[in-house]
Amino acid sequence: MKYDFWIEPTTQCNLKCKMCTLGHENSVMSEKLQNIVAQYAHKACKNMHLYLRGEPLLAGLKWFSNFFKLNNDGDVYYKVITNGMLLDQSFAHLFSQYNVDLIFSIDSADPSTFSRIRRGASLDTIEFSLKLAHEMGIKTSIYCTVQKYNVESFKDILNFAISHNVHSVGLGFVVEPRSCSFTWTPQIVQSFLEFPSQLQGAGLSSCGLPQFIPGHKLTNGKYYRFDEPTQLSCDQCRRTLCVTSSGEVSVCFKLPRIIGNLEKISLAELLKSEKLRCLQMKINSDNPPDMCKVCTWSGYGLTSLPGWRMSSASFNHHTL
Ligand SMILES: C[S@@+](CC[C@H](N)C(=O)[O-])C[C@H]1O[C@@H](n2cnc3c(N)ncnc32)[C@H](O)[C@@H]1O
Ligand code: SF4
Repeated sequence: MKYDFWIEPTTQCNLKCKMCTLGHENSVMSEKLQNIVAQYAHKACKNMHLYLRGEPLLAGLKWFSNFFKLNNDGDVYYKVITNGMLLDQSFAHLFSQYNVDLIFSIDSADPSTFSRIRRGASLDTIEFSLKLAHEMGIKTSIYCTVQKYNVESFKDILNFAISHNVHSVGLGFVVEPRSCSFTWTPQIVQSFLEFPSQLQGAGLSSCGLPQFIPGHKLTNGKYYRFDEPTQLSCDQCRRTLCVTSSGEVSVCFKLPRIIGNLEKISLAELLKSEKLRCLQMKINSDNPPDMCKVCTWSGYGLTSLPGWRMSSASFNHHTL
């Protein structure tokens, strides 16, 4: 079985985005841990996501160059989500030599909304980075985290995507912190519902859409109606391995339940462990960990989304 790996190069960051829950962590994955991950990755990994918390490019050019060399005999596809502030000629050259897709988090195409959310970043620099990536033949995407500051205008990123020749566009939304989340209204649900066909109409692919929105589930790239979220299950925790910059392993990048540390136990042992099996069962039980109860991938989170519980009856019976 091949896993999707989520590797955290560093927890350091150069921005302070409005919705980001990153604390004052300050670690970079060591060369020893890179080796441990790489030994396993080329046998068991299909897609490698090189980001979790923090800005991955802050781990440095040497970190990435070393990591790619270690994984070079495997058939691995890399995805790096970045705030786009640090891409230079050297990074772009390196990424162009491996199978690296770059996803730029932009959150808004409007400079003032952008600056309000992505505190410390500049849309001009993102545009420069996108241009540089294209010149070097790197596949690019943009990603928008929908929250109360951009919910009225998030669809504007489509025009930005078209005019900057990106390959795909992704959407997610903020559940926590509540201070940044928005209240679902029929109009907002409608905006999400229309998004996949608008993407398609613009000739763009998707690099991630919410699996669930109130009353709807994403299936084959389209949202379909479904009623109350009962008997949902999480498959994510069976095919994902996340390794933080200090070697802690978990089965979901959203769930900080650590099953072991690669400094102390091998990945092969962890995969056979009782701890892993129990966690996967707990996640898929009637009483999953609290974090899973707000997850919009598994769908459990629908009942705790702001606005959903209160208005689900009207969503179901009238509007949709
Ligand atoms: C944690 S960041 C790490 C990579 C990089 N620093 C960046 O900003 O793209 C990965 C993605 O998570 C999104 N994100 C940050 N805080 C979030 C939150 N509270 N809920 C949902 N997504 C969030 C970011 O907008 C970004 O697209
Ligand atoms: S750039 Fe990424 S990691 Fe840094 S504060 Fe923003 S969302 Fe968080």
